[in-house]
Amino acid sequence: MDSPIALLGGRPWAVILPLFRLIRRVLPQDIQLWLSQISCILSISTCASVIRFAPSGFPDSGNGLWYTSPGTKWAHDLLPIGNGHLAAMLPGGTTQESIQLNIESLWSGGPFQDPTYNGGNNLPSQRTQLAEDMQRIRQTIFSSPSGTIDNIAEIMTPAGAYGSYAGAGYILVTMNTTGLVSGYVRWLDLDTAVQRTMWSQKGVHFVRESFCSHPLQACVQHINTTASTLPTLTYAYSVAAETGLPLPNITCFDSSTLRIRNVILDPGMLYEILVRVEAPGGKISCTANASSSPSNATLIVTHASEAWVTWFGDTDYDIAAGDSTSNFSFQGPDPHNNLIDLMSSVYANTDSYTSILDAHISDYVSLTDRFSISLGQTPDFKTPTDQIVASYRSHIGNPYLEWLLFNYGRYLLVSSARGILPANLQGKWADAHSNAWGSDYYSNINIQMNYWFAEMANLDVTRSLFDYFENTWVPRGRYTAEILYNVSRGWVTHNEMNIFGHTGMKLSGNSALWANYPESNAWMMIHIWDHLDYTNDVKWWRRQGWPLLKGAASFHLEKLVEDLHFNDTTLVTVPCNSPEQTPITFGCAHSQQLIWQMFNAVEKGFVIAGDSDIGFLDAIRTSREKMDMGLRIGRWGQLQEWKVDIDQPTDTHRHLSHLIGLYPGYAIASYSPSLQGGLTVGGTFMNYTKKQVLDAAEISLIHRGNGTGPDADAGWEKVWRAAAWAQLGNGTEFYKELTYAIERNFAQNLFSLYTYGSTIFQIDANFGYPAAVLNALIQAPDVASMSIPLEVTLLPALPLSWSSGSVRGARIRGGITLDLSWKRGKPNMAKFTVDDDVAGQVRDVNVNYAGRVVGRFRSNPGTIKNIRF
Ligand SMILES: *[C@@H]1O[C@H](CO)[C@@H](O)[C@H](O)[C@H]1NC(C)=O
Ligand SMILES: *[C@@H]1O[C@H](CO)[C@@H](O)[C@H](O)[C@H]1NC(C)=O
Ligand SMILES: *[C@@H]1O[C@H](CO)[C@@H](O)[C@H](O)[C@H]1NC(C)=O
Ligand SMILES: *[C@@H]1O[C@H](CO)[C@@H](O)[C@H](O)[C@H]1NC(C)=O
Ligand SMILES: *[C@@H]1O[C@H](CO)[C@@H](O)[C@H](O)[C@H]1NC(C)=O
Ligand SMILES: *[C@@H]1O[C@H](CO)[C@@H](O)[C@H](O)[C@H]1NC(C)=O
Ligand SMILES: *[C@@H]1O[C@H](CO)[C@@H](O)[C@H](O)[C@H]1NC(C)=O
Ligand SMILES: *[C@@H]1O[C@H](CO)[C@@H](O)[C@H](O)[C@H]1NC(C)=O
Ligand SMILES: *[C@@H]1O[C@H](CO)[C@@H](O)[C@H](O)[C@H]1NC(C)=O
Ligand SMILES: *[C@@H]1O[C@H](CO)[C@@H](O)[C@H](O)[C@H]1NC(C)=O
Ligand SMILES: *[C@@H]1O[C@H](CO)[C@@H](O)[C@H](O)[C@H]1NC(C)=O
Repeated sequence: MDSPIALLGGRPWAVILPLFRLIRRVLPQDIQLWLSQISCILSISTCASVIRFAPSGFPDSGNGLWYTSPGTKWAHDLLPIGNGHLAAMLPGGTTQESIQLNIESLWSGGPFQDPTYNGGNNLPSQRTQLAEDMQRIRQTIFSSPSGTIDNIAEIMTPAGAYGSYAGAGYILVTMNTTGLVSGYVRWLDLDTAVQRTMWSQKGVHFVRESFCSHPLQACVQHINTTASTLPTLTYAYSVAAETGLPLPNITCFDSSTLRIRNVILDPGMLYEILVRVEAPGGKISCTANASSSPSNATLIVTHASEAWVTWFGDTDYDIAAGDSTSNFSFQGPDPHNNLIDLMSSVYANTDSYTSILDAHISDYVSLTDRFSISLGQTPDFKTPTDQIVASYRSHIGNPYLEWLLFNYGRYLLVSSARGILPANLQGKWADAHSNAWGSDYYSNINIQMNYWFAEMANLDVTRSLFDYFENTWVPRGRYTAEILYNVSRGWVTHNEMNIFGHTGMKLSGNSALWANYPESNAWMMIHIWDHLDYTNDVKWWRRQGWPLLKGAASFHLEKLVEDLHFNDTTLVTVPCNSPEQTPITFGCAHSQQLIWQMFNAVEKGFVIAGDSDIGFLDAIRTSREKMDMGLRIGRWGQLQEWKVDIDQPTDTHRHLSHLIGLYPGYAIASYSPSLQGGLTVGGTFMNYTKKQVLDAAEISLIHRGNGTGPDADAGWEKVWRAAAWAQLGNGTEFYKELTYAIERNFAQNLFSLYTYGSTIFQIDANFGYPAAVLNALIQAPDVASMSIPLEVTLLPALPLSWSSGSVRGARIRGGITLDLSWKRGKPNMAKFTVDDDVAGQVRDVNVNYAGRVVGRFRSNPGTIKNIRF
């Protein structure tokens, strides 16, 4: 009988091994099994699982997740695969595998559901009334002694058919096998982005291998056996487990392809899925069930030596049809013809399963191997991932798991972001018809956090993010700027964003704390500016980056008004909410810091944009001089969250909104007294030193608590705190928060959970996690002007338990690649390599370690700077 490794075709990733793994691998699976059964009998541990080692074929780097039983709970156990456009969750079944499907644009709501849908906006006829309401709201706030107002519902609007991202049903793969399952193991290989399940029944070994290929725009699942032929296999499509999804029409497109047609709601978006099976040496037939209505059909495979299914899917959503030319319909063509073309081209150009697999792996590897990280971890091949996660709860600290979580963040972003749409609140993985928060693009921390680490980790995945702004935020956001704010230039969005241009301020009772957030566009401009700053991609800047920035900045330029509460001549936002906090007030620190940063980006990116609109630049500069900086030290030494000093020391709110300039922004981290100080407010002369500002931020951070408060126990709030502590150079607090997040907020499949033990998956902490880790190892915060040197700090908050490690291929702003290694808690090598083309954006760089400058260079093209310690 063949050993199980032969099932994988003896492919090259399964070759070089440490000795002990080699010994284990040459043992036939049956002997391994027998040995582990003996150890099972001898030990008092439960004997539920018989596999005691990571499986043959598991990455030798340890970079993977593995389990000894199939998954049952979607958010806790199942393993995700995806290519950005399609995604799937896999339980790793044996006799039956139930593949839960996603198509990135499959949403309920929008104009598909309600032809009068207008993005949750007011009507043009309401413009004058709204402008008057706004005036009254501002006056009330300014003239109230507390500088606040209780309610602004009159300017808010019901969300209408907001909709939700939805699951796309299930492919059921059933195999006619019986008998006890033994030697079961399933794993996700993060080096190659392939999931596998391996087991034996009646002495026959089986292996299933699944992945979603970006080059193919399809997902694939292959099954192989050591027997001469596979048992009979059936492939069917089911919606039974997704309540709310209508029954589809399932027909035989041809003898080896199922065609599934359905709508998400009636009326609603249309989707189609093609399920095509290949079975060398076997026979495939498609059988329609004559008594089923609507139609149903299944594929049956007999006598095949191996079989694989490929599925293709799409909807009739078109992101490019979300402007006035298309009457904001987002209506695209019926996806059928494109899917047929795609399927034909795949089969015309592919000769074998292994070539599909190889193309997938090389695509994934080419994107991810520009960067690597080590935290000095020792891979643990003896403990399944669920047990590693469980034991972390009693023994905090395990560099192997901490490293895995970093790589998992990279895996999830690459697997969810490379579509038409960016990674949403659940990446692209969602199983319900209506998911928590619509699995939408929540824009007061969550979508931002999704992309915090992308540039530094050298991941080229932001295209769909920026296209999404351009196509769905801007066109209707212009309308919202005009009608709701009486602002004639630019565009605006609020906190909750779907894929149908929901730009309105969502009314849901007295909901200003959620909805009154016209700074979502300003926060996203950090990402727009950073993309230029990290890549110096001028072509992109001129085509997309600059127009986005100019539009968002134009809006806020016109919207800022003079402070008529303190009468200090500064410009402020009003009415504003610090995200998810009452009160409704003016001059929120969060808004002011963000807008100041955005205005700096306008100045920094103006020349390179080739824009000749000097009037705009001058207006931005004038406003920037006059604006309130959002940096004020309050009565208990805190950095104030609002211009009025009403912060409560007991406020453990989950958001760190007023510390935005500490992380991920720079208004605090790179504070400059000469640029941001020097205002007189209410008789107080404010010209803080940088130390004073950082100390105040630290006091606020301490009082904000550890990310477990009355409002939530989410993972994202903890990793944000971890990143903020790292920014303050405090490795102890950084590590405490980071490990606290692992302890409380990550399931055994390493998905981040909304709260401890919850079944709500929310991907933000999966992505905020690597960002926080990077911020403890390398910092190079932005600066207000290109003439200010970039301050790079090496190992600013290295925890004791990562005493040796390395980062290869990190990117820092300026178009610079950094390789860094450290030993015994101290750096031993740093190498900076400046790109050959920096588009003229040459700057001074200072390299700092432990409070002193250890190197300086100017970022002339091609410069290499080596620092040895
Ligand atoms: C399937 O298993 C056989 C051995 O049983 C092996 O020769 C073949 O390469 C495997 N196919 C793939 C695609 O891994
Ligand atoms: C455009 O959309 C609106 C709803 O937003 C609808 O009332 C109107 O009939 C549509 N016009 C055309 C020409 O389709
Ligand atoms: C609306 O904007 C226009 C043009 O800037 C201005 O003339 C008008 O006074 C504004 N309306 C209100 C009520 O503020
Ligand atoms: C399933 O396998 C059993 C024997 O293992 C056989 O008797 C039965 O006919 C098979 N059923 C199908 C649908 O192939
Ligand atoms: C189609 O038939 C298969 C096999 O009987 C079944 O498992 C599946 O749920 C059916 N699909 C629908 C949508 O009813
Ligand atoms: C399913 O088939 C029925 C009957 O042919 C048809 O009326 C319906 O539009 C079809 N649904 C979809 C989503 O194609
Ligand atoms: C065919 O469909 C009918 C009605 O849904 C169902 O009762 C029957 O089990 C199906 N037959 C097969 C072979 O799936
Ligand atoms: C600010 O000026 C307004 C009149 O423009 C006045 O009513 C208000 O009392 C002043 N506030 C302060 C704090 O001076
Ligand atoms: C504020 O302080 C900085 C140095 O700390 C100094 O350069 C600047 O002149 C001061 N500004 C004013 C207005 O005093
Ligand atoms: C975190 O804070 C909560 C609430 O203050 C407290 O109950 C808990 O013990 C703290 N946990 C840790 C690990 O600090
Ligand atoms: C880190 O922060 C904690 C809590 O504020 C403090 O006790 C400790 O001294 C800080 N450590 C460093 C190195 O600043």
